[in-house]
Amino acid sequence: MTKGLYVETYGCQMNVRDSRQIVALLKEEGYSEVSDPKLADVIVINTCTVREKAAQKVMSRLGRLLGLKKRKEDLIIVLAGCLAQQRGESILKRMAHLDLVIGTHQIRHLPTLIRKVRYTGAPLIELSFSTGLYCYPEAPLPEDKEPCAFVTIMQGCNNFCTYCVVPYVRGPEESRPAEEILAEIRCLVEKGVREVTLLGQNVNSYGQTLTDGITFPQLLERICEIEGLERIRFTTSHPKDLSEELMACFARLPKLCPHIHLPFQSGSNKILRLMNRGYTREEYIEKIVHLRNICPHIAITADVMVGFPGETEEDFCATLDLMEKIRFDNLFSFKYSRREGTYAANMVDDVPAEVKAERLTILQKKQEAHTWEKHQALVGEKVEVLVEGRSKNSLMDATGRTPTNKIVNFPASEDQYGKLVTVKITQAFLHSLRGEIIE
Ligand code: 5AD
Ligand code: SF4
Repeated sequence: MTKGLYVETYGCQMNVRDSRQIVALLKEEGYSEVSDPKLADVIVINTCTVREKAAQKVMSRLGRLLGLKKRKEDLIIVLAGCLAQQRGESILKRMAHLDLVIGTHQIRHLPTLIRKVRYTGAPLIELSFSTGLYCYPEAPLPEDKEPCAFVTIMQGCNNFCTYCVVPYVRGPEESRPAEEILAEIRCLVEKGVREVTLLGQNVNSYGQTLTDGITFPQLLERICEIEGLERIRFTTSHPKDLSEELMACFARLPKLCPHIHLPFQSGSNKILRLMNRGYTREEYIEKIVHLRNICPHIAITADVMVGFPGETEEDFCATLDLMEKIRFDNLFSFKYSRREGTYAANMVDDVPAEVKAERLTILQKKQEAHTWEKHQALVGEKVEVLVEGRSKNSLMDATGRTPTNKIVNFPASEDQYGKLVTVKITQAFLHSLRGEIIE
């Protein structure tokens, strides 16, 4: 009889990718995925700790899982991901129903570790960092013949932005050898994948830890040569490492989608300095202007934070002003939260919670207006969409994304799944577009 595996994922696309790897590895061990934790023999909670809210969500979820363990004694509960890496030991002490805690570099060893826990019956914790091991030699199967896949090209981060816990929980930056990445993508394309998103905490410093001198633009060029692959995306980029050579790729490489996610975090030079971001607002704006000169329809999205220690009304206004100057396609915005172990954890978290909340609301309202304006402008336009599968909203509709990464829903038949179609946009909403296939 197959054993049930339930995986719950929090956080970024890197975690989504890691969860897929977990599923692929445990399928080889005879597990099959279940959608209800009550039916599982193994539950994996893949966690995030980038902000306090994410960490709190996981903690309350873990508390609730306690009930399941009481009913099913041989159930194994695994805590994985960034929160596990950061606070695994203290969580294990507090939560006796946890069986296994694994850090971000231990995914590959998960099947062995589960077997060990089953055999000994004792809880286990494995948090060590390792080089190379994080890189996967084999491509996991894309689930349900999805035409889009994530491909990890590097792990870790050496930037040490003062608010960020990532360098501590994901470890130092390490790039994956190009041949390994190319082999994985070729294999995915053979299985029907048409679009890949290259993942890394800071993809544009790709290659710095390799000895063959390959750069990120060169990697992109080689990926473009793969026949059958239609689209390439990447995330996340750091403004300070966005080279002229990389920007030129948006004009030069037709498979590279015209969208860049380029977190700016704050529009105030004082705050950017305190964050150790390594660029000024003027440099950021200059890069966007350059990108738009090269590729006029490029979509620009970013991450931004409010309420970093020392952020005054004037600093916040500088953030709003930068938004006005750039007019982002979309923004992911957050309230600063203190993360243990970071440099900023030593600064006084002096912006009151209600001021953070108020600033976030103002910022999000402004962004909604900008997003709405951009979506409205697309009504009547023809856009190319990769049909990804059934839409969540309606059984009749399919869903896909434009090259600029906007979600479009439209009627389509199943034989169009996985294909590139031209869609005429008929209606705009804040979070998606609606249209109809015209070719
Ligand atoms: N508080 C709030 N937001 C944070 N981010 C990272 N660390 C923190 C923190 N301590 C945000 C940044 C980053 C995104 C992934 O999360 O905007 O780009
Ligand atoms: Fe965190 Fe900065 Fe690294 Fe991004 S670049 S992961 S924000 S330290």
